[in-house]
Amino acid sequence: MVTVPSPLDDAELLFHAPMGDVGALYDRAAYRYDHFRDLWLRLAGARAEQGLLDDLRHALHPGATVLDAGCGTGALARQVLAIEPTAQLTLLDLSPRMLAKADDVPGDHIIGSVLDLPFPDNSFDIVLSGWVIETVPDPIAAVAEYLRVINPGGSVLYTFCSLPQGFFSRAGSAWLRGAVKRGFAGQFLPEESTPWHDCDRSHRLSTHGGLATQIALAKCCTVAPQPVPSGSVAAQ
Ligand SMILES: C[S@@+](CC[C@H](N)C(=O)[O-])C[C@H]1O[C@@H](n2cnc3c(N)ncnc32)[C@H](O)[C@@H]1O
Repeated sequence: MVTVPSPLDDAELLFHAPMGDVGALYDRAAYRYDHFRDLWLRLAGARAEQGLLDDLRHALHPGATVLDAGCGTGALARQVLAIEPTAQLTLLDLSPRMLAKADDVPGDHIIGSVLDLPFPDNSFDIVLSGWVIETVPDPIAAVAEYLRVINPGGSVLYTFCSLPQGFFSRAGSAWLRGAVKRGFAGQFLPEESTPWHDCDRSHRLSTHGGLATQIALAKCCTVAPQPVPSGSVAAQ
């Protein structure tokens, strides 16, 4: 018999999440993660994710090697195969229960950390990472790892929760930011700690009043703490 979680179960998941151990937190949330993922996309993340998928469509080619870093339940990996069925996928996540939800996705499934990727330099054509870097202690180190493992000519595509600039946007989103932080260890990254490199091969899309950001980088990029250029908030 399948038991449908009640709103009380969801509240328990959000408000009594274990602190400090991100893998354990996601193990506990895995059975309900897809529900909350859809909710996040509806509330704030959809345009940033659409930006990532548009870039993915551009970057994919037959036989492309793709790492879904922090793959969770495999939502993005399934999109890769829907666009390019011959893509060679590697799925990596810290949480065994999240990764187990992606069992149906063909490819290598690896339990590991985005902060110390178990691959040599230049291993993949594309690294995808959706809503992950804001859950790790050092987002810039994670993106540096992504850049290390892409091939020359490859792409790193990622989305993350970001801190809106204006007072009213911050105040209006406080409840949502609080829920994402408590339930899913998602820190909304301020501009000054955004992993970003400004060049003619990179681009950045900030959406939903600055709450969700999508970035594309290339092998030539380096990431270090640096201010995001003003006027780069492109879409609402
Ligand atoms: C918000 S979920 C995003 C999952 C998936 N990318 C998606 O788009 O739905 C964050 C994921 O990152 C994983 N994660 C957190 N820290 C990690 C780390 N250091 N290394 C690998 N995965 C990590 C979590 O286990 C979780 O599955």
